[in-house]
Amino acid sequence: MLIGANPETIRAAADLLRAGALVAMPTETVYGLAADALNPDAVAKIFAAKGRPADHPLIVHLPDAEHLPRWASSIPREALALARAFWPGPLTLILKRDPGVPDAVTGGQDTVGIRVPNHPVALALLRAFDSGVAAPSANRFGRISPTTAAHVVEELGDAVAMVLDGGPCAVGIESTILDLSRSTPEILRPGAITAEDIAQVIGRMPRQPTAQPASNPAVPRVSGSLAAHYAPRTPLRLVARNDLVAQALAACDQGLRVAVLAHHCADPDDARIVWQAALSDFVGFAHDLYAQLRKLDSLGLDLILVEAPLDDEAWRAISDRLGRAAVGSGIEPA
Ligand code: TXA
Ligand code: MG
Repeated sequence: MLIGANPETIRAAADLLRAGALVAMPTETVYGLAADALNPDAVAKIFAAKGRPADHPLIVHLPDAEHLPRWASSIPREALALARAFWPGPLTLILKRDPGVPDAVTGGQDTVGIRVPNHPVALALLRAFDSGVAAPSANRFGRISPTTAAHVVEELGDAVAMVLDGGPCAVGIESTILDLSRSTPEILRPGAITAEDIAQVIGRMPRQPTAQPASNPAVPRVSGSLAAHYAPRTPLRLVARNDLVAQALAACDQGLRVAVLAHHCADPDDARIVWQAALSDFVGFAHDLYAQLRKLDSLGLDLILVEAPLDDEAWRAISDRLGRAAVGSGIEPA
């Protein structure tokens, strides 16, 4: 049931969480599919609704950093500094888990992922619930993350007791994941908070993931690290800016129905091509990306060409998501 978020519906959502039901909630990154993180039966419903493999760990969302000691057995100074700097916000910290955190949440690993989301509805829900909720992105496994409440309904339908509508997500791509459970901090998933942002707070650069997903590890620590992820059903290919028009026209000449998502190129004004203009700044591009991919995917065309992001540090998170979307859609990156 899709319902507008207000104090009354947020209280009802907290009651549903206490009763072991699933609630979809807005966050600043993407919509999350929330369940009581201390209730393994409720957490099992997340995996069933998403069709997600059971050994993929979930992020625990807290109302504030004061709740950390209940979930993490050791809280390094760097974690506290980062929490002070970026929470509430799009940064997930991987810490050594408290033994009380259910295996269903951690995928049986000795660590737990934690963040405090920066969205008034999520924060109100977490405060009303006064504990941690496990919440992956509210999409079917491997598919495009939802950035509106309507996307959640498209993805999960009746599998969710309540979808709280808090408007479109401000950031639009998933949180940065930083592993602080080992001696060297390591970014497991790039996001809007960059390695440089983190280094400014902790005084050292975290290790970074390699730019392109190389392989599908059997049991990934981060399912977003699978080579195929965030994918539309329509084959998607990344194309360098200067080749975009030529490739689109060539595909049309082969009889393919083609859409293009581009931020620099001029629309060739050819009626055979569905041309979707994207914003050219990172913040705007990220904000719109998943809604635009979802819209182009819904047209049922043969091919989506996306202008390849520049090889630039600020665009790392976008390159990461688009690379996986290309692989997930069945086309290997060129
Ligand atoms: O922005 C976000 O992080 C969104 C919103 C809803 O908060 N959530 C999200 O969750 O993207 P999900 O489950 O779609 O992606 C979380 C990633 C998964 O790839 C998971 O493997 C990884 O976080 N993760 C969770 N706990 C982990 C752990 N203990 N160690 C390593 N990776 C972990
Ligand atoms: Mg996800």
